[in-house]
Amino acid sequence: VLATKTQSITTMTTQEEECMGSVKAQLAKIFETSLKVTVPNEPDVEPLIAACTGKFGDYQCNNAMGLWSKIKGKGTQFRGPPAVGEAIKNNLPTSEMIESCSVAGPGFVNVVLSKNWMAKSIQKMLIEGIDIWAPMPPVKTAVVDFSSPNIAKEMHVGHLRSTIIGDTLARMLEFSKVKVLRRNHVGDWGTQFGMLIEFLFEKFPNFEDATETAIGDLQAFYKASKLRFDSDPAFKERAQQAVVRLQGGEEKYRRAWAQICEISRNEFHKVYQRLGVHLEEKGESFYNPYIPGVIEGLTKQGLVEESQGARVIFIEGVNIPLIVVKSDGGFNYASTDLAALWYRLNEEKAEWIIYVTDVGQQQHFDMVFKAAKLAGWLPQGDNSYPRASHVGFGLVLGEDGKRFRTRNTEVVRLVDLLDEAKSRSKATLIERGKGEQWTEEEIESTADAVGYGAVKYADLKNNRLTNYTFNFDQMLNDKGNTAVYLLYAHARICSIIRRSGKDIEELMNKGTLVLDHKDERDLGLHLLQFAEVVEEATTNLLPNVLCDYLYNLSEIFSKFYSNPECKVIGSDKETSRLLLCEATAVVMRKCFNLLGITPIYKI
Ligand code: ARG
Repeated sequence: VLATKTQSITTMTTQEEECMGSVKAQLAKIFETSLKVTVPNEPDVEPLIAACTGKFGDYQCNNAMGLWSKIKGKGTQFRGPPAVGEAIKNNLPTSEMIESCSVAGPGFVNVVLSKNWMAKSIQKMLIEGIDIWAPMPPVKTAVVDFSSPNIAKEMHVGHLRSTIIGDTLARMLEFSKVKVLRRNHVGDWGTQFGMLIEFLFEKFPNFEDATETAIGDLQAFYKASKLRFDSDPAFKERAQQAVVRLQGGEEKYRRAWAQICEISRNEFHKVYQRLGVHLEEKGESFYNPYIPGVIEGLTKQGLVEESQGARVIFIEGVNIPLIVVKSDGGFNYASTDLAALWYRLNEEKAEWIIYVTDVGQQQHFDMVFKAAKLAGWLPQGDNSYPRASHVGFGLVLGEDGKRFRTRNTEVVRLVDLLDEAKSRSKATLIERGKGEQWTEEEIESTADAVGYGAVKYADLKNNRLTNYTFNFDQMLNDKGNTAVYLLYAHARICSIIRRSGKDIEELMNKGTLVLDHKDERDLGLHLLQFAEVVEEATTNLLPNVLCDYLYNLSEIFSKFYSNPECKVIGSDKETSRLLLCEATAVVMRKCFNLLGITPIYKI
């Protein structure tokens, strides 16, 4: 027997109302109620809600077909999926969200949202702030392991990608109120330090005086010491001794090591400062003391085997084993990552651990995660928590389609790239005559925002797994899907509001937003979809999903704004349309914020 409509109406508690989640999540709740009534014998059916692509509604519920195959032949009263869809529709509790519903084709339930509800929701966001549109946190604590360059080696464009992508993922999680441990897993441990330390002693007998200025370029220092290491057996011998003495904790060697790390760290910091990225360093050396215990534990569990003098973990489906102790008894990259994963799960209580590196390291992480599953540190399924995820990314290519390098085939220095992006955007501002209109400070900060924003966006807008070509002209173009276009679009919206001469705060609280025109409603719907887009981008660890959303938002806004029927300033709908402009600007700014881009307010 079907329950009557009134019986199934649920009243939301205030608590539930506070964390309502996305439109999709709110509709899912309503449909869940209906599904419970429609198929009482199938209690665990998850509502399948998706935004509509067609013209029949804004959202649709796709449960009918799947449900039908579950219940047919079990004495059901329904005569096919359309009937199931019809019942799902009829059993929906009344909700001010929904304007109308219809069943189409094999049982899709299409929902048209109420434009009054939509308008009210947007106005509520304006008054209370965009945080009310934050998605539900998937976990309480997460680690994002990103950037992670190697001491004394170059920080290359791959590390730039890791830094930009990792920062965005961290920002998205932080927006969802997840506590994020932003970890810089720098390569600060390993045999190369013996050679570096010995070379330091040789070049600077008073090595404590060897500051950054004295050494100059640490990469060149690395190269020179490597040359020495390869050509002089006596030096090589001393370097190998130095590793032992360093790892044995000898004071002088520790200090020399710390000094080399410090010089590198200052170099890295310059890039982070420019990009506005904050990270906390816990390098490989930090986990070193934990390695023996972790490996002992794995050995006791019977996971570690002897193979050609090394100690390894065999993993099903992978033809090479994971080496956890090298044949010389030393530890390696994998030993460190196992200890780090153990530490993050057990000491830091992280429930989601995210690693951002090039796709080349995919197999390494795949093996580490599988070993952790064998050890029972992580659950078997990929969709449960605690979870470890590898966020891989492709190469940055030069115009020649090869790995991005400068003319003399040296790797590109990151600071130089950022400098060039900035100076190019500054030149454009001067060309546009801003030199006469703006203060020097305004020019500098705008050039920063546009230049660095362009570099970040050009990276983030691609599906991270694909390679992309680094091209200044393209990323600094003010047309097309670029940060420049988007930043200008935002600045123009701000100028519309300024030109109106109205106090937007006052309008928010005293005026009323309505979505009567189709272009207004389309824009409103897109704004309301912000929460579910951030949720999708976060769950799937795909920043490009947010970039697509932002670009579409800008296009949909243009359509609205350029339509003479939607005139803003001086029309009788001015208040409402200004509020819609403001809501667009607020959502755009939040997108910029999540992408690590600084918005500009005038152009
Ligand atoms: N230092 C490594 C590299 O430059 C990246 C480290 C990534 N993080 C990790 N836990 N393994 O490729």
